[in-house]
Amino acid sequence: MKYALISGASRGLGKEIAKTFAKHNYNLLLNYLKNDEAALQVKEEIERDFGVFVHLLKGDISNPLDVEKMHRYVKEKKLNLEVLVCNAGIDHVCEISEKTYDDFLQVLKVNILGNFLLLQSFGQDLERQKKGSIIIINSDNVIDANDSVTLEYDVSKAGLLMMAKDYALAFKYAKIHSICPGWLDTDMNIIPEDVKKDILFTDKQAVCESVWEQTKNEESGNVVVVR
Ligand SMILES: NC(=O)c1ccc[n+]([C@@H]2O[C@H](COP(=O)([O-])OP(=O)(O)OC[C@H]3O[C@@H](n4cnc5c(N)ncnc54)[C@H](OP(=O)(O)O)[C@@H]3O)[C@@H](O)[C@H]2O)c1
Repeated sequence: MKYALISGASRGLGKEIAKTFAKHNYNLLLNYLKNDEAALQVKEEIERDFGVFVHLLKGDISNPLDVEKMHRYVKEKKLNLEVLVCNAGIDHVCEISEKTYDDFLQVLKVNILGNFLLLQSFGQDLERQKKGSIIIINSDNVIDANDSVTLEYDVSKAGLLMMAKDYALAFKYAKIHSICPGWLDTDMNIIPEDVKKDILFTDKQAVCESVWEQTKNEESGNVVVVR
């Protein structure tokens, strides 16, 4: 039975990506940080609607011990991982003059080092299995900086883009692609309703479709912008 692991899948884009893989008959390993209630709801909804198995992997992707624990769980259960979607990410929005070392570090830890830990554990497993697909959720901020209030996020996503390129060079079998969505209507963006109505958000389903398409791409190292 094939499995897809999706980080940050208790809400937002990760939840929609999880449903996309369930629709295509993948069983799921859904990682999240702390929101037990939301994660359980996603698990129950997907199991009910798609009839696949869903395992919840609570843990901070930027904490080596948490990732090790998640990795051990998958190994012990002998789950056949075929797809890794590195989706979890955070931002920190404020004027450049107010930015701090700690906030900057936190964003880099999750968006770069967290994904590094996932790639070094689950990603390397896929490579050793000589098959599999890795999707990195990046952002179209990596193409054009829109606003300096997201400085740390933009820097982290630029680093993440290079990380995906290096893994694409290093991995011979597991294919790795970056998907760069535009602005999404998720909890990451706390926007007043009256402002929201004038924003042209990127369709989450279009992003999910692109994620799914790239899992079938036999070349490695693609960067796909979805706006
Ligand atoms: N929103 C946008 O406009 C936008 C645009 C382009 C790209 N993206 C990218 O799309 C991805 C998903 O964003 P989103 O907007 O869907 O985010 P979101 O709605 O804020 O959801 C974040 C998800 O990540 C989990 N998470 C946060 N920190 C984590 C950590 N350290 N370890 C494990 N899980 C963690 C959260 O778990 P809990 O529920 O437990 O907190 C939640 O499931 C991110 O990589 C983001 O950069 C977003």
